[in-house]
Amino acid sequence: MIKRSFITIITISLLFFSCKKEETNQNNVQLSVIQKINNQYDYFYPEINKSINQKRFIPRSIHHDSLKLVSAFDWTSGFYPGTLWNIYKLTNDKKWQERAKIYTEKLSKIQYWEGNHDVGFIIECSYGNGIKYGDLHLYDSIIVNTAKALSTRFKPKAGIIQSWNANKKWNCPVIIDNMMNLELLFHATKISGDSTYYNIATTHANTTIKNHFRSDYSSFHVIDYDSETGDIIQKKTHQGFKDNSSWARGQSWGLYGYTMCFRETKNQTYLQQAMAIANYIINNKNIPTDKIPLWDYNAPKSKETPRDASAAAITASALFELHKYVDEENSTKYLNYANDIMSSLASKEYFADYKTNEGFILKHSVGSIPHGTEIDAPLNYADYYYTEALIREQSL
Ligand code: GLY
Repeated sequence: MIKRSFITIITISLLFFSCKKEETNQNNVQLSVIQKINNQYDYFYPEINKSINQKRFIPRSIHHDSLKLVSAFDWTSGFYPGTLWNIYKLTNDKKWQERAKIYTEKLSKIQYWEGNHDVGFIIECSYGNGIKYGDLHLYDSIIVNTAKALSTRFKPKAGIIQSWNANKKWNCPVIIDNMMNLELLFHATKISGDSTYYNIATTHANTTIKNHFRSDYSSFHVIDYDSETGDIIQKKTHQGFKDNSSWARGQSWGLYGYTMCFRETKNQTYLQQAMAIANYIINNKNIPTDKIPLWDYNAPKSKETPRDASAAAITASALFELHKYVDEENSTKYLNYANDIMSSLASKEYFADYKTNEGFILKHSVGSIPHGTEIDAPLNYADYYYTEALIREQSL
């Protein structure tokens, strides 16, 4: 009897210490990744900062072997300050807070811009993170002003926020990416107490569930509406392989968007939607073994088909959140999947060597293959969602 208890105690201790060792190893990997990110962004900061007073001053990608800078009006302008905030959160080094503030405040004119739905991305990733990580509540009014500007694009009869302006090709287009802009609207309602923004966000999310998804929960990229009747004029792609294909980043935007909508509303419909999208991604036959998707799940698969690290980073960040809201079996599944993505992104294949990649952390993303831009390139939003995923991973 005593012998059996002794063996049980030894077995439990061994299990405990091997789990602890695994946890310690994982923590060490994370710490070295954070150190490398700190070093890479620190090394390139003075070079990037030389352009701070130019019209184009936000690093977005690499073009013809040199750094591609964009203006405040580019849809990606919030991601560089956002990444600086994320690095501040990861390192707790005040220097990053100072830098994040400088770049955030260069975007102030965007709060009044009604010309594009992307103001949600731009302002929530920069000013929103300044509030979250820097406790800078003087930014609150900027969130509300931006929500007002974004709300001007709401078409009540169709129940959606218009993404881009009408032109020869589009009447009232809505892209799946637009789900990401809703976070700013929820934030504005929390700050102001005005439920208008919340209601616009949930109406848009509901219409998108109705019209953007196929029966397998993959999504179209663009739904073009008649804004007066809500009728659908066309279902198309803008950045995907085909109109009826599954553009990889679009699936990640949907997953992240509905996970965030569930967080903000506790509406089970959004949770079910996020889980169904997660299952579509996780069970997809075309996902390579390292779990970094091809740029489109329906793109012809070969060794040369470009991967999209940005889609993987967004998926990982979303799954780190979603796993907290679901039953144990799905929770483990989502966590394992996110961890697998993080291991791949931290590997030499995707994680740039120090002083290379024009300062970006990740390699191998895709901007838009149909437009021939940023193919197999670094992207500032890949870095943003990767560093956000690290914060979420660390908080587990
Ligand atoms: N929102 C544009 C993109 O994901 O490329």
